[in-house]
Amino acid sequence: MCGIVAYIGPKDATTFLLEGLQRLEYRGYDSAGIAVAGKGGTLKVCKVKGRVADLAAAVPPRFKGVTGIGHTRWATHGEPSDANAHPHTDNTGRIAVVHNGIIENADELRARLLADGAVFTSETDTEVLGHLIAAHAVEGTELEDAVRAALAHVVGTYGIAVLDATQPDRIVVARNGSPIVLGIGEKEMFVASDVAALVRYTRQVVHLEDGELATVRADGFRTFTEDARTVTRQPSTVDWEIASYDTAGYEHFLLKEIHEQPSAVERTLSGRLDERFATAHLGGLNLDARELREIRRVKILGCGSAYYAGEMGAQLIEELARIPAHSEPASEFRYRNPVIEADTLYVAVSQSGETYDTLAAVQEIKRKGGRVLGVVNTVGSAIARECDGGIYLHAGPEISVASTKAFTSTVIAFALLALHFGRIHDLSPADGRRIVAGLKALPGQIREILAGEEEIAKLAAEYAGSAGMMFIGRVRGYPVAREGAQKLKEISYVHAEAYPASELKHGPLALISPELPTVALVPDDELLDKNLTTLGEIKARSGRVLAIGHRAPEAKLADHSILIPKSEPELDPLLLNIPLQLLAYHAAVALERDVDKPRNLAKSVTVE
Ligand code: AGP
Repeated sequence: MCGIVAYIGPKDATTFLLEGLQRLEYRGYDSAGIAVAGKGGTLKVCKVKGRVADLAAAVPPRFKGVTGIGHTRWATHGEPSDANAHPHTDNTGRIAVVHNGIIENADELRARLLADGAVFTSETDTEVLGHLIAAHAVEGTELEDAVRAALAHVVGTYGIAVLDATQPDRIVVARNGSPIVLGIGEKEMFVASDVAALVRYTRQVVHLEDGELATVRADGFRTFTEDARTVTRQPSTVDWEIASYDTAGYEHFLLKEIHEQPSAVERTLSGRLDERFATAHLGGLNLDARELREIRRVKILGCGSAYYAGEMGAQLIEELARIPAHSEPASEFRYRNPVIEADTLYVAVSQSGETYDTLAAVQEIKRKGGRVLGVVNTVGSAIARECDGGIYLHAGPEISVASTKAFTSTVIAFALLALHFGRIHDLSPADGRRIVAGLKALPGQIREILAGEEEIAKLAAEYAGSAGMMFIGRVRGYPVAREGAQKLKEISYVHAEAYPASELKHGPLALISPELPTVALVPDDELLDKNLTTLGEIKARSGRVLAIGHRAPEAKLADHSILIPKSEPELDPLLLNIPLQLLAYHAAVALERDVDKPRNLAKSVTVE
C-alpha cells in the first residue's frame, strides 16, 4: 500500500525514482510524484493523479537532481488528485516528505500548525509532516535532528523519506510500522519501501526496525533510534531473482504467477517431507512435540484470500490431526476483544507479512500471552518478526494484486502443519504416507491443469458477460468456492457470491436463473451424490452450471465441465482452485480489465 523510493549519488536521481516507482506500482497506483534536490539548494516537485507512466510524461526535461524521493499512492486521506499526491512540502518549499502509513493525530497537529501560520494545500495526513519538520528545521539544525524532533509529536504508523533542499547531501528516513529498506550501492545509496525497487541496482540491503531512523548519504548510512542512540545494522543479501520482478514474457504478472505454482509448491515442500516416518519437518515452529501435543485448538487469522487459505488449513488440521481448528478474518478478530487461551495455537497468515489488521491481531494475542505462528511469504516482514515461530512459504515475490501462488503455497504449508500435527496425534503411518505421496504429486497435477488453459479461457469468455456468478462447494469445497468468487470479483468486477452447496435451498436458490450461472465444485468424494442433487435443483430452475471436478456430470446436470486430476480427498481443494484462478484471469482479460492492478485495490493493506 503506497510505495516509497529515494536515491542519493552521482547519477541523476529522476531516472532511478521513476524506474523504482514503476516496480512498486502494484502497492498503490492512484497518483505518483517525485521531488529532487540539486546542489544549488533548490527543490523541484512533480506529482500527478494517475499512474507512474502519467508522472513520467509530466516530468519536465530538465528535472534533474543528485538526491530525490518518490512515491506511488493508494489514497486513504483525501481522493486521488495532483494536490493529494506525495511528496508534500512545507510552505517555503524547502522540505519534501513521502510517507506510507497513517498519522493518527493529524487533525490535532494540523490545527496547531495552522495556528502557527502554516498553509495547507492537500487533504492528506502526510502534509502535516512537511510543516512539522520544517518547524523544527531552524537554521543550523541537522535534518536528522529536525525529523527526530518532529516525529516525537506524531502518533501513528509511518515509513518516511525526507529531503531538505538546503542539505542535499542526505536523505533522512524513519520507520514505525511501515517498511523502509536501504540499498547499498557503489558510492550511491537507494531507499525503498520494498526490495522490488532495489534488486536491479543492489542486493545488499538493510531493513530498518520500528522506531529507527537513518541518515543516508551517497557514501553510506547511519542508523539511530528516536532518542539519537546510534544502532549498528548489518546488511543482508536479497536472494530473490531479478526475473521474479518481471513478467517474463507473460501478458500479466497474474498469469505468470498462476503458472509459477508448480515450482512455488515444490519450494514450499522442499526439504520438509519425511517419507520414512510419513511426516513433515517444520524447523521454524519453535515448538517441540510435547508443546504441540498440549495444543487443544487452532485459531487461524488472515484477511481476504489469506483468510480463505486459513479455512482450507483449518479443515486440513481437523481432518488430519483431529484438533478443532477455525479460521477467522483478522480484521474482525482484533476488534472483538477475543478470549485468548493458553492451549490454543494461533496462526497468522499473510503473503506480504505487512497487512495491518493481521499484524494488530498478532499483537493483541501476544499482549494477552498467546502463542502465534506465522505462515508468511515475505521473509523478515513485520508479521514474521512479531510471531513466535512459523512457516515461510518460499513462493517467491507475488506482484499481482490478486493472490494466486501465495494462496496455494499457504494451503501447502497448512497441509505440512496438519501432517506434522497428525503424526504426533493419531494419524496412522499409512495415512501419513498417503498424504506425503499426495503432496509430492501436486506440482505435476497443477501442470496438468494449467495445460488445459485454452479450454478454460474459452469458457471464461463465455461466462464473463454474466451479470453475476454463484460459486458453490460442500465442506472441503466451500472455502474453494469462496476463494474462487473472491478472485473473480476482484479482477473482473463481475459480482460473485459463494455459498455452501448445502445452504442453497435455504435462500439463494431464489436467485437462480439463466442470467446467474453457478460454478459448482463437485469432487469425486463421499459427498458427490449430495453435490449432484444440488446441481439437479439448479438445473430444475433453468440455472446454468459449470462443474469442476474429477468426472463430468451428466449433460442434464451441468452445461460445461472442467476436469482435474484426482488427489487425496483432503488435498483436492488445492487442485479445484487452480481452474478458478484461470477462469477469473481469462474473464478479466475478456472484459479488458487492468488485471494486475484492479481498481480501488492495492497489494498490501498496511492501514486499518
Ligand atoms: C487476494 O487476492 C487479495 N488481494 C487480498 O484479499 C489479500 O489476500 C489480503 O489483503 C491479505 O493480504 P496478505 O496475505 O498480504 O496479508
